[in-house]
Amino acid sequence: MPVLPLRTKSENLVGSLIREVSKDSMEKPGLIPLWFGEGSRTAPPAVVAEAKKAMDDGFQFYSASAGRPELREAIAQYVSGLRGIKVGADRVCVTPSGDSAIQMVMQLIVDPGDNIVFAVPLWPNGLDMVEHLNGEVRRVALKWGERGWSLDLDRLFAAVDRRTKAIFLNSPGNPTGWVATADELKAVLEFCRKRGIWAIGDDVYERLVYDGSERAPSLLDFAEPDDAVISINSFSKAWCMTGWRLGWLVTPASVIDTLGKIIEFNTSCATTFVQRAGVMALKQEAFLHEIRADYARARDIAYQRLSGMGRVRLARPEGAFYAFFSVDGMTDSVEYCKKVAREANVGLAPGRAFAPEGEGFIRLCFATNPARLTEAFDRLEPLLR
Ligand SMILES: Cc1ncc(COP(=O)(O)O)c(C=O)c1O
Repeated sequence: MPVLPLRTKSENLVGSLIREVSKDSMEKPGLIPLWFGEGSRTAPPAVVAEAKKAMDDGFQFYSASAGRPELREAIAQYVSGLRGIKVGADRVCVTPSGDSAIQMVMQLIVDPGDNIVFAVPLWPNGLDMVEHLNGEVRRVALKWGERGWSLDLDRLFAAVDRRTKAIFLNSPGNPTGWVATADELKAVLEFCRKRGIWAIGDDVYERLVYDGSERAPSLLDFAEPDDAVISINSFSKAWCMTGWRLGWLVTPASVIDTLGKIIEFNTSCATTFVQRAGVMALKQEAFLHEIRADYARARDIAYQRLSGMGRVRLARPEGAFYAFFSVDGMTDSVEYCKKVAREANVGLAPGRAFAPEGEGFIRLCFATNPARLTEAFDRLEPLLR
């Protein structure tokens, strides 16, 4: 029997351009992979021990769809403590990753024909999800200049129309390293309140800021409990737990029930023994400080080496763990990154993977040790000087 057609939207999925670049060179001996969004360290030892113990203790069954109560409570306390606000566990939903949290938020709010306004360049999964749901993606480009990336609020607000369901901001941003100011977030929240639309913040890099503070500003700092505000978060980045697949959402309490139903038909729940380990992860402040100090050093190495290369233009990343730089004369970032992998044996991500506005740029994940990073820049230098 011939294979039958799939849903058109699925047939038409483009797929990750980072994967396209990496597929031919992934197994190359000696390649330094700086193309994916993850560090080279593993999770805190206490978290690993807790996961093993949880398995031994029999935490191997389904949990409540919105998450185990103890983890929801631990997240509520963590968020409240970090931000000096009061978030109750009734506003927290545990998700099997930040990625699935985004997916489920879109399933929660997007009807066919609705649009979501995104500030780009941006990690593309949320945009793809909206299109997959027959929604419309509206991209507003962050501005790039000598002093870094910035958000033009007038242009952001001008993109909103009567079919807009939400404004979506990711700060600290992947791939740009841009960090929204408290005033910008206040203005976005105020605008969304007036227009009756959701304000969604992807806060997965909130702990990775390099100005000496503990966290980046978030919409949550200014939101009332029943404001139409959603914060997306994840254990992947700051706790070095990308492969564990655990994240969370903070939403108004009134939507948690519906979110639970959405989780039910997506995955039923997040992995139960991983949820036990999540409670332990939230006690690892010292680890987070260590990671942030390591990444701050790596950021400085990346900035110093790249700004010394003649063909490169970049702003110093304020947050997250990426250098996003333009390369003079480069017209096709996908082909260029393939060439870099072939010739310099370093894996980089093409800017076009983060929306057409990212073309002309390349993303390098600097979350690795200084020796490896230095070796990567030594290899890149002949191509980029
Ligand atoms: C901006 C942003 N949001 C969300 C995620 C999702 O992370 P995870 O699914 O590993 O929790 C990522 C991962 O790269 C990201 O960069």
